[in-house]
Amino acid sequence: MIGAFDSGHGGMTVLRALARRFPDQQFVYLGDHAHVPYGDRPSHEIVHFVREGCEALFALGCRLVLLACNTATCVAARPLQREWLPASQYRGTHNILGIVAPTVEAATQTPWGVTSPQYPQKYNSDVIAVFGTTRTIASGVFPEEISKRCPRIRVVQQACPDLAGAIEAGRPPDELDRIVGACVADLLRQTGGEPPHRAILGCTHYPLVEDMFRRHLPSFTRLLSQPDLVADSLEDYLVRHPAYAATSDASQPRVRLLTTGVASDVSRQAKVFWPEVAEFTELAVAHR
Ligand code: DGL
Repeated sequence: MIGAFDSGHGGMTVLRALARRFPDQQFVYLGDHAHVPYGDRPSHEIVHFVREGCEALFALGCRLVLLACNTATCVAARPLQREWLPASQYRGTHNILGIVAPTVEAATQTPWGVTSPQYPQKYNSDVIAVFGTTRTIASGVFPEEISKRCPRIRVVQQACPDLAGAIEAGRPPDELDRIVGACVADLLRQTGGEPPHRAILGCTHYPLVEDMFRRHLPSFTRLLSQPDLVADSLEDYLVRHPAYAATSDASQPRVRLLTTGVASDVSRQAKVFWPEVAEFTELAVAHR
């Protein structure tokens, strides 16, 4: 049983790819709808909510939790992996993974384990755009990790402060399209009109409006969308660490959807993005 955590609906874009890729695996998804959006919250709050989410998923029997959220990964993955987990009762038996690593691997064509430039670098002077929440962009994690491996790549970041919240609130397509168009225009102003070689949609909510990014970005720009990249990377991880995939709970469905919010509202909203999706249930207070 594998846990997937997001601030709200966005991580379901990753969950869908995982559910397709691993037909024999059980998943528990937890959306922290009580606190969404995370994007403009202070870091200490995000770390706190993500830790609570991981603990809840561990308590439900998941030994591996994937942070299917860039904001959670950029802000909380390091403190939780390096400080909290090793000092907790879950040390050595449970793990937390983020989704920045597979994205940086794809953007740089360099394995995560390689943390210094390898020459010759095929893509070393490209321009890479990163779109994300305010907190993801402020964390600087994407440019830091990309330039460690490919120092000559120019990373141009663009925060899209209102986008995840608008997607989460189910705003109409023309409004979402206007927000995406404005974010892309701001990004292109930063590059002086030069089309980026690749664009990272660095928020798991954005694949829900990927067609809008595609339309507004120059056709030259290749979109790096995370769901399949993350599924590829998890497949590789589970081959190397099969124990994390080994638990299951026969009394539960293959994909179980939990929320810290109001289940009926969350289920209704989720269907906008994933019409055949199952109902959410509320996370029991004992697990909060
Ligand atoms: N889905 C999230 C991400 O990937 C965060 C959206 C939010 O809560 O602001 O960054």
